[in-house]
Amino acid sequence: MASFPKRTVTCGGLRGEDERRDVVLNGWVDVVRDLGGLLFIDLRDRYGVTQAVVDPDVVDAERLARARELRPEYVVALAGTVRRRPAENVNRERATGAVEVLVRDLEILNRSKTPPFEIRDDAQVSDEVRLRYRYLDLRRSSLRGALEKRNAFFLALRRALEREGYIEVETPLLTRMTPEGSREYVVPSRVHPGRYYALPQSPQVFKQLLMIGGLDRYFQIARCLRDEDLRADRQPEFTQLDLELSFGDEEDVFSIIESVLRDAIRDTFQREVAVPFRRMAYQEAMDRYGLDKPDLRFGLEIRELAGCLRGSGFRVVDEVLAAGGLVRGLVVEGGAERLSRKEIDGLTEFVAGFGAKGLAFLKADAAGALSGSLARFVDGERRARLRAECGFRDGDLLLVVADRPAVACRSLGELRNELARRLGLVPRDERLEFTWITEFPMCEWSDEEQRFVATHHPFTMFSEEEPGQLERGPGKVRARAYDLVLNGWELGSGSVRIHTREEQQRVFQLLGIAPDEAREKFGFFLEAFEYGAPPHAGIALGLERTLALLLGRGNIRDLVAFPKTASAKCLLTGAPTDVPEQVLRDLGLPCAAPQRGAEDCPARGGG
Ligand code: AMO
Ligand code: AMP
Repeated sequence: MASFPKRTVTCGGLRGEDERRDVVLNGWVDVVRDLGGLLFIDLRDRYGVTQAVVDPDVVDAERLARARELRPEYVVALAGTVRRRPAENVNRERATGAVEVLVRDLEILNRSKTPPFEIRDDAQVSDEVRLRYRYLDLRRSSLRGALEKRNAFFLALRRALEREGYIEVETPLLTRMTPEGSREYVVPSRVHPGRYYALPQSPQVFKQLLMIGGLDRYFQIARCLRDEDLRADRQPEFTQLDLELSFGDEEDVFSIIESVLRDAIRDTFQREVAVPFRRMAYQEAMDRYGLDKPDLRFGLEIRELAGCLRGSGFRVVDEVLAAGGLVRGLVVEGGAERLSRKEIDGLTEFVAGFGAKGLAFLKADAAGALSGSLARFVDGERRARLRAECGFRDGDLLLVVADRPAVACRSLGELRNELARRLGLVPRDERLEFTWITEFPMCEWSDEEQRFVATHHPFTMFSEEEPGQLERGPGKVRARAYDLVLNGWELGSGSVRIHTREEQQRVFQLLGIAPDEAREKFGFFLEAFEYGAPPHAGIALGLERTLALLLGRGNIRDLVAFPKTASAKCLLTGAPTDVPEQVLRDLGLPCAAPQRGAEDCPARGGG
């Protein structure tokens, strides 16, 4: 026997047809309105909100007193009869809005302190408070709705992959460090003092070993852990749809991902996605959009300006060109009026954040008069070229960056996105511009590390135009890697993998991993290649990012039940915390006092 009246229906379940039904509801008090005579209670649970009415003519004094005690977030059981609301009281915004429950009996199952914020989507509360009381924030329908969509999407992905013959395999969480590019969290071993496990930044090595193990088609909804700087699209713990297939290549990965995403998006969001997705080479993306994750929902493409501005007397341009740099810019249609001098100064600071040494500009007013830092260098002939080659017309604004190629592309790419946001160029519809970015360079020179680093990761196959190119001119070798990009976000990355020991060793060598070191660290992996590794390829999609975009959220935090802050703290539990000295001693670790700032302590108490 239950110790309380158990619900017979949820708070989202009742409709007009339920008139005269006797029901029991369990839930949280959302709002109470005491009109002196009648008392209205909105009762909430995961499924919805139902209005209940306490009428002093119907309930006895004891029950009425109990009802008058109710406050938001009290947990109650109430029994009563469903009745239709009079037409003028029907709430069309709410699924249960045609009815209310006339209360016969009511029991308080638990009381609540006054919550630190109202459980409403539009409540004005700081993120800190929301995260500290995440369990209260989760009572909001929009946050709960995001988690429900997450679950539905994951189920749909699993169904679609099962249809295609993929099996889900779980790979270890306690493993060894791999050179994938992100910093890993390490876990000290108690049994082997001085030794450490690493938490996986992805299942990369294991999924390749599964291919060597003959599993053929693997996927995993995999938790990944990375100790990296966090942003709106990064959490230290996140979830990938990780996938690998044998005896296939790029085309097979593209087609499985396209069909699985199309099906799962249709099932979960009732939206149609056009397949196949568009494809764009890395170089084209960089030239036209400045970034390898272009937002293709709007134009504002980057313009090549070397031809128009060379030899104009604007010193920086010629210096930059002589040093192998780029002179490129953006033509903002109607921008002469829309962007003030002050705003352009703001944009100059904006691009400086990406390393640009300046932002030159040219305005042509409606009558054609030129102004701006470039004006005195642009004569009639150059003006005509700007019009013909870049579409620069009266009323327009030209913004120019001259810099090293990496800086010029990045700063103009970010500037393009920023301008689109400010000028409202991003369409408000729910357009999904999926694009494969292909033909990435294999590696890039890192000034910081003074060595080549893999653009994707060291397990990526390369395509040499001639044998030995990897050693002679690594900067020109392309990787057989691809990214999936959606509306300016990188959703996923993958590649065709190396599957011979020789090729893997060549790449390790190129990346400055000496043969001894490679044997020591990845001997097990290199060895596996010698026992019949099949050709294989794969990809991983960031699922929080995918869902954030599909749900129109700007931060992946909403897709994580218990997220961390930008400094990787959990404000709810207070993690990371110090641990008892004995624990450290058992692990053979030094007992250093932790450095602690006031902000490290989660808020105490509350209400
Ligand atoms: P990569 O490191 O590019 O590739 O990661 C794949 C995708 O995972 C998502 N992602 C993140 N999401 C949230 N928070 C983070 N901190 C975070 N870091 C990455 C992104 C990204 O595109 N093993 C390879 C895949 C492969 O080659 O198959 C890998 O992990 O959406
Ligand atoms: P300066 O000659 O440094 O006073 O710069 C004159 C104008 O050129 C200013 O508007 C600067 O923002 C701009 N400028 C300086 N360096 C660059 C550069 N590398 N690319 C584009 N504009 C620049």
